[in-house]
Amino acid sequence: MADAPVEAREPILEVRGLVKHFPLTQGILFKRQIGAVKAVDDISFTLHRGETLGIVGESGCGKSTVAKLLMNLEQPTAGQILYRGEDIAKLSGRALKAVRRNIQMVFQDPYTSLNPRMTVGDIIGEPFEIHPETAPKGDRRRKVQELLDVVGLNPEYINRYPHQFSGGQRQRIGIARGLALNPEIIICDEPVSALDVSVQAQVINLMERLQNEFDLAYLFIAHDLSIVRHISDRVGVMYLGKMAEIGTDAEIYDHPTHPYTQALLSAVPQPDPSARENRERIILTGDVPSPANPPSGCRFRTRCWKAQDKCAEEVPLLAVPERFKDSDTGARHDSACHFAEEKDVVHA
Ligand SMILES: Nc1ncnc2c1ncn2[C@@H]1O[C@H](COP(=O)(O)OP(=O)(O)O)[C@@H](O)[C@H]1O
Ligand code: SF4
Ligand SMILES: [Mg+2]
Repeated sequence: MADAPVEAREPILEVRGLVKHFPLTQGILFKRQIGAVKAVDDISFTLHRGETLGIVGESGCGKSTVAKLLMNLEQPTAGQILYRGEDIAKLSGRALKAVRRNIQMVFQDPYTSLNPRMTVGDIIGEPFEIHPETAPKGDRRRKVQELLDVVGLNPEYINRYPHQFSGGQRQRIGIARGLALNPEIIICDEPVSALDVSVQAQVINLMERLQNEFDLAYLFIAHDLSIVRHISDRVGVMYLGKMAEIGTDAEIYDHPTHPYTQALLSAVPQPDPSARENRERIILTGDVPSPANPPSGCRFRTRCWKAQDKCAEEVPLLAVPERFKDSDTGARHDSACHFAEEKDVVHA
């Protein structure tokens, strides 16, 4: 993580009002649309040069869909994704290819995301085949070996196959492939979720080192706030296709104002037993509702212990809550709750 405060750095990716609805259809011959899975429903955020934005939320809240939209693997239903001011959904041909080179992805499962029949050299070198202008043919082997070295693997492993590596090593291979084209942004979709806890820290440390070395911006997706804590400059908390709260790591971890964030933090195991006694434990009850039929008003209301009539009637907007507008504490950040307030759930 870097020198200047991240908010002061140039924005390289701006997401505005992003929506992705997957149509639900019925019938075999004559398909009728009977509804839609509202996987992502009006999300906005900015990613600055060289920063890590953590995106956190329970399974099914739309995180991977956001990643796919940013990678142009899905087309948005509405909204904009601006890369250096240009809407990537509107680009084609050479302009789109240039953007694609600058936004790379590291996938969740290193066991299934690497083709078992390709050598490590071919896997890491594949981006050079897709973008041949980035490395002359005679140079590629050397570049791949350099990339292996950069991610802490022996360059002599170049002819081995994925099954000859551990999970952590495989994710290093996935990261090397992500780095090959020297991108500005790497979208990391739960990159350590499939790894053992001890290996998770090693991979995250590697990613932090690479970020400094190559001035990378990460969108780092996780289902748990504790994983992104040390790597994130800012964190956004998603619930059922919406952004519930977003702020700097200090704002989110020390001054959360949205009940959902407070509940997630309360579920984070605390290593210090004295801290455990002092905080209130919130147990989230009920399942996440279906994104095909989300609750009216605030989508969290069916699980929120503070819900009132207003919560069913009005969608809370993501903004600095009125009561914190003049606050000089970390509570002054965007939170989509009609009754946002601080709550002592975690002691740092
Ligand atoms: N291609 C698709 N067609 C229909 N529904 C989808 C598709 N992809 C994802 N979904 C649905 O969208 C919601 C969000 O999924 P996803 O983005 O994968 O969540 P997360 O990554 O947070 O677990 C889920 O309800 C999922 O079933
Ligand atoms: S708007 Fe209402 S239901 Fe939603 S989080 Fe706030 S208090 Fe809970
Ligand atoms: Mg996912």
